[in-house]
Amino acid sequence: MPTHVAIIMDGNGRWARRQSLGRIEGHKQGRKAVETVVDTCREVGISYLTLYAFSTENWHRPVTEVRALMALLQRYLRSERQQMLEKNIRLRAIGDLQRLPAPVRAALEEIMEATRNNTGLTVCLALSYGAREEIVQAARVMALAVRNGQLDPQEITERTFARALWTTDIPDPDFLIRTSGEFRLSNFLLWQSAYAELYVTETLWPDFTRSEFLAALEVYQSRERRFGRTTEQRGLTSDLARVTRS
Ligand code: IPE
Ligand code: IPE
Ligand code: MG
Repeated sequence: MPTHVAIIMDGNGRWARRQSLGRIEGHKQGRKAVETVVDTCREVGISYLTLYAFSTENWHRPVTEVRALMALLQRYLRSERQQMLEKNIRLRAIGDLQRLPAPVRAALEEIMEATRNNTGLTVCLALSYGAREEIVQAARVMALAVRNGQLDPQEITERTFARALWTTDIPDPDFLIRTSGEFRLSNFLLWQSAYAELYVTETLWPDFTRSEFLAALEVYQSRERRFGRTTEQRGLTSDLARVTRS
């Protein structure tokens, strides 16, 4: 099982259009898929789930859609709070949270604090998130530390840099899923996904089910992660190894 699964939850708008509904209905429907995925992660023992819910670029959508998404997010947080406590879920968020409407931010911060010491699944919401922005702010943090004499430039390493990212103590994603058939990252976890296994499904986010998620996890298990090494070094007897030897 992957330790950390990250999902680009895409296709709400297209789902709604296919049902001749407004885009907002698609976002509303997407919530069910979130609950399904959260419960399945708990069931199969995944430790971290990161959900791309709103990107930096999504702020450029029509103001009515942005407002509706923020309202849905607030409603989601309010109604899921108790469940998160009962399910021992730890809530985290990554992104430029200062840009979120004050009531959303307040709800988010309150739940993050209340679930801080939970030991079950960590659910990390990427909100107002952009990977390039995350990397730039990390560079800024490091530059300030150097200027203040707290950091020697020699101490800027992959490890210390990663600690300055919003994901600071969250391990890199092992498995990155994108729904709705788009083969791109859309500014999601660019640093952290360096060695993530990628999986794209045509299914639109509101239609993403438990069985489809389990099927995706099975695909993950069939992948050979070499991290730049050879199959022999990994000590695996995969098909590839057999082919290479013969
Ligand atoms: C994903 O669905 C949700 C967000 C980006 C907030 P979309 O709204 O992008 O749906 P499509 O891509 O238009 O179908
Ligand atoms: C990526 O989806 C962001 C989220 C799922 C929150 P988009 O729909 O915004 O991505 P593009 O515009 O198709 O690249
Ligand atoms: Mg989209």
